Amino acid sequence: MTVYLVGAGPGDPELITLKGVNVLKKADVIIYDNLANEEILKHNINAKKIYVGKKAGKHYKTQDEINEILIKEGKINENVVRLKGGDPFVFGRGGEEILALIEDSISFEIIPGISSAIGIPTSLGLPVSHRAVATSFTVITGHEDPKKKDKQVKWDYTADTLIVLMGVGNIRENTKEIMKYRREDTPVCVIENGTLSNEKIIFGTLSNIGDKKINTPAILVVGDVVDIYKMIKDY
Ligand SMILES: C[S@@+](CC[C@H](N)C(=O)[O-])C[C@H]1O[C@@H](n2cnc3c(N)ncnc32)[C@H](O)[C@@H]1O
Repeated sequence: MTVYLVGAGPGDPELITLKGVNVLKKADVIIYDNLANEEILKHNINAKKIYVGKKAGKHYKTQDEINEILIKEGKINENVVRLKGGDPFVFGRGGEEILALIEDSISFEIIPGISSAIGIPTSLGLPVSHRAVATSFTVITGHEDPKKKDKQVKWDYTADTLIVLMGVGNIRENTKEIMKYRREDTPVCVIENGTLSNEKIIFGTLSNIGDKKINTPAILVVGDVVDIYKMIKDY
């Protein structure tokens, strides 16, 4: 009896790994959320499906409830798949789910996925690192409440490229913070619905990207690599 934590990739259903597809095919139960492309569920039409994502922007199940479902299903089924968008450990609470399984002595296996943070820029031809332009990158949550007292995200990162996930709601506050450490005209590229048919790309700078209309889900890529992408995309 094993619970497989599987990364579904960033959106395009073909961007899940072969190993991920193989465990999906043998699953008795698939527990999934709204970032996992539902096309992927077609790999196994017979498995019981349990949706634990969000409804109308609200979490449909709390993390504790999800952990309980994983434990319950893990105890009664041979193969349980917990399918998560992107990579399970990149802002995916995968670690919390594994710790809950360990506490109940449930066997598990983790199958990585292509994270939106890197997979989406790469799919476009936007290199997150580029010799002589960017030798480092940082992936940050943009979701931390800007008014929180003991903020963990301080925006003074020294990496050349910043990749911000969950950053649409606080984009104005976050870019204002980043501008304390970077030029106002630092190029920014926002990718909405990356790797999907409704993908949209929006260019701007740190000073004006907050004025653009951006829908979720989206990632922000901040740094001079955006200019490299502008050269690549025209070919
Ligand atoms: C809770 S995090 C989960 C990230 C996921 N574990 C990963 O590795 O990609 C959700 C955020 O990922 C980003 N994201 C995921 N899928 C995306 C997509 N297809 N297009 C743009 N952004 C996406 C967005 O920033 C979204 O707010």
